[in-house]
Amino acid sequence: MRKQIAAANWKMNLSLEQAEQLIDELLSTDHTVGKDQIAMFAVPFPYLIKISEKLKGKSNVYVAAQNCAATKNGAFTGEVSAEMLDSIGIRYVIIGHSERREYYHETNSILAEKVNRAFEQKVNPVFCCGEPLQIRDAGTQNSYVETQLKESLFHLSNEQMKDFIIAYEPIWAIGTGKTASSDQAQEMHAHIRAVIAGKFGNDIAGSVSILYGGSVKAANAADIFSKPDVDGGLVGGASLVAKEFATIINSLKK
Ligand code: PGA
Repeated sequence: MRKQIAAANWKMNLSLEQAEQLIDELLSTDHTVGKDQIAMFAVPFPYLIKISEKLKGKSNVYVAAQNCAATKNGAFTGEVSAEMLDSIGIRYVIIGHSERREYYHETNSILAEKVNRAFEQKVNPVFCCGEPLQIRDAGTQNSYVETQLKESLFHLSNEQMKDFIIAYEPIWAIGTGKTASSDQAQEMHAHIRAVIAGKFGNDIAGSVSILYGGSVKAANAADIFSKPDVDGGLVGGASLVAKEFATIINSLKK
């Protein structure tokens, strides 16, 4: 079975003390990460090492970065390279979150470069895609997302695309409390899988974990994750509350 993944995206939140407290609380809250499941914590850069230490030895639990540079090491003040992430043992990185696309002008071609830098260091991308409200209202979300996938991922090899992780996050559902219905999620996830299948074949498309993101919380996770093409979630707000995220982990398909 492809991996079922609960990924916490803390964004730019929490002091170090609060971050450690959140992990401690989560660890003491009842949750199980099964063998075909992953729990992931995308934490701010300064906390990567500390949170990794706290989670050391937990099986199927990983710490992720929220971004990496499109370039290799060099004179790029303020950037963090995939090589640096690799050097501190980080195995996952979120690439192309809509906030990065919108506020930092990351285009599909820049994101293709970020994906390349991550793969060069054997850091696994969690590639985000998703449409803004006006695209959803116009009914052109399928072709919009298809273009994001084509322009950032279609240069990859079959080997790289095997077990790849994509997060579908409709922008109108992020941090708004407005969730896509589980049927809307399933419809888009099936489309994404079909787009991947069209380029890389059915077997590889079947191995790709497609996460849903956008106002996932304890109360709606089980319904959304129950859909056949939804392989877990990328969770912002609710991942900052230990009990919420523990329930979200427990809602993954077994
Ligand atoms: P949200 O954020 O769960 O707060 O809507 C999701 C995300 O942006 O990854």
